[in-house]
Amino acid sequence: MKINHKNFFLNNHPLVKKDITILRNKETNPEVFRAVVKRISLILAVEISKEYQVSKTEVETPLEKTSGYQLKQNVVLVPVLRAGLGMVSGFLEVIPDAKVGHIGLQRNEETLEPVEYYYKTPKDINHSQVILLDPMLATGGSSSEALKYLKRRGVKKCVFACLVAAPEGIKKIAIDHPDIPIYCAALDRKLNERGYILPGLGDAGDRTFGTL
Ligand code: PRP
Ligand code: URA
Repeated sequence: MKINHKNFFLNNHPLVKKDITILRNKETNPEVFRAVVKRISLILAVEISKEYQVSKTEVETPLEKTSGYQLKQNVVLVPVLRAGLGMVSGFLEVIPDAKVGHIGLQRNEETLEPVEYYYKTPKDINHSQVILLDPMLATGGSSSEALKYLKRRGVKKCVFACLVAAPEGIKKIAIDHPDIPIYCAALDRKLNERGYILPGLGDAGDRTFGTL
């Protein structure tokens, strides 16, 4: 499927393709599901962070002084509760000094509109490199609301990392937030009449936390 959005990046790594298949399998239990979400998140974190800028610094080895590098900006991870929590540990594995904010949004399953219930992000988020984490980009309602909140907090540098995206959601983010790059592990066919991604992996929150 061709997506006409220059800020959409589909990861093509063979290990990601293999792992997404494990997530799709309805027999995969929450323990394995969480481990696989972590593994894919780690690969996405490496891909996203390769754009980060560094500045020079000094470092002393056991033998002599030399020059080294440090990240120019702090990184803040912002998972959308609940399912985004599953992606945090993989990202922290790659960017261990990142701060973590939280956004609580739950889709009303009748209207498919996101309902907000919690916001807590670090004070310096406006000067940070922000990564919004949510495994599912379905209608795009939740991630678009989360991005609006981050922009109201003054965030200027932000990307959105997800595991499975539907074309409908990508289109919404492209319209509402054309400046926000979307990094994704799988591009699926469409939404069903209940707003679930097909073929998808089901309800990511329930599969992560065993609340089916
Ligand atoms: C899921 C998912 C996204 C949202 C995607 O969360 O984690 O936040 O749905 O759907 P959308 O693109 O149509 O908004 P859900 O609302 O099921 O909450 P949960 O993580 O607490 O289960
Ligand atoms: N939220 C999910 O968890 N899964 C979907 O397929 C759509 C929204």
